[in-house]
Amino acid sequence: MNIKKDFVLSNGVSMPAIGFGTWQIPAGESCYKAVAHAIKSGYRHIDTALAYENEQSVGQAVRDSGISRTELFITSKLPAEFKSYDDALYCFDKTMQNLGLEYLDLYLIHAPWPWDNIGADCTKENIEVWRAIEEIYASKPCRAIGVSNFSVSDLQAIMDNGSITPMVNQIRMFVGNAQQELTAFCRQHSIVVEAYSPLATGRLLKHPPIVELAEKYNTSTAQLCIRYVLQKGAIALPKSVTPERIEQNLAVDFMIEPKDMAFLDLLRESDVQ
Ligand code: A2P
Repeated sequence: MNIKKDFVLSNGVSMPAIGFGTWQIPAGESCYKAVAHAIKSGYRHIDTALAYENEQSVGQAVRDSGISRTELFITSKLPAEFKSYDDALYCFDKTMQNLGLEYLDLYLIHAPWPWDNIGADCTKENIEVWRAIEEIYASKPCRAIGVSNFSVSDLQAIMDNGSITPMVNQIRMFVGNAQQELTAFCRQHSIVVEAYSPLATGRLLKHPPIVELAEKYNTSTAQLCIRYVLQKGAIALPKSVTPERIEQNLAVDFMIEPKDMAFLDLLRESDVQ
């Protein structure tokens, strides 16, 4: 797979296959430098969220990059705790203020439930919030809309009650957590899947079977893990604040053979310490 090859969303908007993840990068110099280096290294897709509290630094780095805005794809998210129509519109405006950009490429509902109540049934609220997201898509500067951390039933509820099927579902996905059922459902409904934490926040990198396989391909374990999610048909969103790693994570122009993909498919998250 050519990493330059974009994914095309159901509304025709293209997005680059590798995005720079900014979760857990503190606002300020650290985030500004990381995003600036990512863009300098060739990333054209940056993923942030109001809840990461680093949108201002992301926006500043994007604006200072010298790269035309139309060449960059910027995602942000509505915090999971905000579950009303009015709050959704308010948060979108806040995000745009923070970023200081004329438009957003993709806006996602961050999660179907508040983070302090994971798994809670917020179906009714999510249907209302999705109505607001559709309104944002119709009337605000936002090119595409979607969700994050949504299960099949969470997706089904808003598809049954809304007018637009989410264009993206950003999920926790990596070797050992391939989310077969959810990704199959998304594929069936033309919902592009994005994999956040493709390195399991770093936990996969020293896992012996992955280390061994990476040696075979003469790549780093991080590159192997990023390549895995791409070959599973998902967009990869690796995060790093380290310049060499930021560069390395984009250099994944190799192919994992089908038998090695099958081997990786058999690994389980519970095996990774
Ligand atoms: P750091 O940011 O200090 O460079 P994920 O993308 O799954 O959330 O994983 C992020 C974690 O993996 C971070 O701790 C990051 O460290 C680390 N990481 C990212 N890329 C690499 C790499 N190429 N080699 C080693 N560690 C990496």
